[in-house]
Amino acid sequence: MTKRVFIKTYGCQMNVYDSARMADVLHPLGYRPTDTMEAADMVILNTCHIREKAAEKVYSELGRLRLMKDARRRQGDDMIIAVAGCVAQAEGEEITRRAPYVDIVFGPQAYHRLPEMVARASRAGATVLDTEFPAESKFDYLPEDGAAPGPSAFLTIQEGCDKFCTFCVVPYTRGAEFSRPVAAIAAEARRLVAAGAREITLLGQNVNAYHGAGPTGEMGLGGLVRELAEIAGLERIRYTTSHPRDMDDDLIAAHGEVPQLMPFLHLPVQSGADRILAAMNRRHGADDYLRLVDRLRAARPDIALSSDFIVGFPGERDAEFEATLALVDAVGYAQAYSFKYSPRPGTPAAAEEAQVADDVKAARLAALQAVLGRQQDAFNRSTVGRSLPVLIERSGRHPGQLVGRSPYNQAVHVTAPPTLIGKIARVTIRATSAHSLRGILDGAAAGTANHLAERTPA
Ligand code: 5AD
Ligand code: SF4
Repeated sequence: MTKRVFIKTYGCQMNVYDSARMADVLHPLGYRPTDTMEAADMVILNTCHIREKAAEKVYSELGRLRLMKDARRRQGDDMIIAVAGCVAQAEGEEITRRAPYVDIVFGPQAYHRLPEMVARASRAGATVLDTEFPAESKFDYLPEDGAAPGPSAFLTIQEGCDKFCTFCVVPYTRGAEFSRPVAAIAAEARRLVAAGAREITLLGQNVNAYHGAGPTGEMGLGGLVRELAEIAGLERIRYTTSHPRDMDDDLIAAHGEVPQLMPFLHLPVQSGADRILAAMNRRHGADDYLRLVDRLRAARPDIALSSDFIVGFPGERDAEFEATLALVDAVGYAQAYSFKYSPRPGTPAAAEEAQVADDVKAARLAALQAVLGRQQDAFNRSTVGRSLPVLIERSGRHPGQLVGRSPYNQAVHVTAPPTLIGKIARVTIRATSAHSLRGILDGAAAGTANHLAERTPA
């Protein structure tokens, strides 16, 4: 009998990957994905704990789900409610207290046990809780016949983090660093490509700390990228999220040498002030970061950079915030994310007395975002008039419109036939808006067919 599962994903791309794997492990039980929560027999909230706002959203969603579950029960039916991901890991017990109608709570390391938990939930009167870090790895239990990935796929290669930045919950929710073996990653990558993926984004909380078992000993991320670049049909490789301290020479060199490695790098710096970087336990200074950027640009001159920033870290003074603005100025980002510092229970920075007032954080965030917004605009405008290879991923909102990505990770809208989905097409950029580019297919005006790109990175 077919049942419907609705999975709502919060937070990072690793959760997007995990959600897809949850759908895969539920497939043999007869569960098929649905787009409407109301129609679902099971709803999974795959949650994020990185900032307070992200965690609180979960409880308000649960309030709404409770009403749906009650309504279903009145009809003699039921709806299984599950909370997964990092809020489940960090606050499992609290969820069972605050929302006792939740059937299943499980952490990011336990989704391969989902079928068993579903069976137990239908028997048990109480919440099934699984937030262990099991000895067996979930990666060893992934079904090999998951849903088709689409042209651009995610592949988790590394999980957990040993860096212990003082603001961050990840080392507590995702646990110690773990790298999957090269052979398992290569096999999964080949399956994804055979199923239609043209681009793979390698994922990890601290992805460039990757050090998986290879054929002749441990291999770093640079080696892994070179290995995957051998797969025929895999046209584009990306990776995220990186720590500046783990950008080794080989990985930097790979940016210049592996044409499939896209010229875009998310390299969070968090702050431009040395004292704050030290208090964050980032283990590098502002100058180290600037020198790293220089080396990356020497290897790959057109590389576009992205970052995360935190404003209002405990004790951050005006001059230290100014140092962040100065660093932004010196780097010139293609895009970035920025956040107000959010104290997370159990992390060292949350216990600091010198918390920054919210209005100060808000003012700093607005000032930083104004600068970053201008840089993003400038970067987008710099691509106008250029012909870029665009991986066409899906149909757009308007009839005849397709959406793809430039090598620099920009969304590109173009009018083109749907047969181009999954292909890399040459598109000349004509205009930009806040979050995307618009272009026309090369050769479209002349009615020729020279829009299909060779394997050319920009
Ligand atoms: N407060 C604000 N932002 C945070 N991040 C991580 N922890 C916190 C926190 N406690 C941001 C960092 C990180 C990104 C994923 O989220 O910038 O790089
Ligand atoms: Fe968190 Fe990233 Fe620091 Fe690890 S490196 S503790 S994931 S911010």
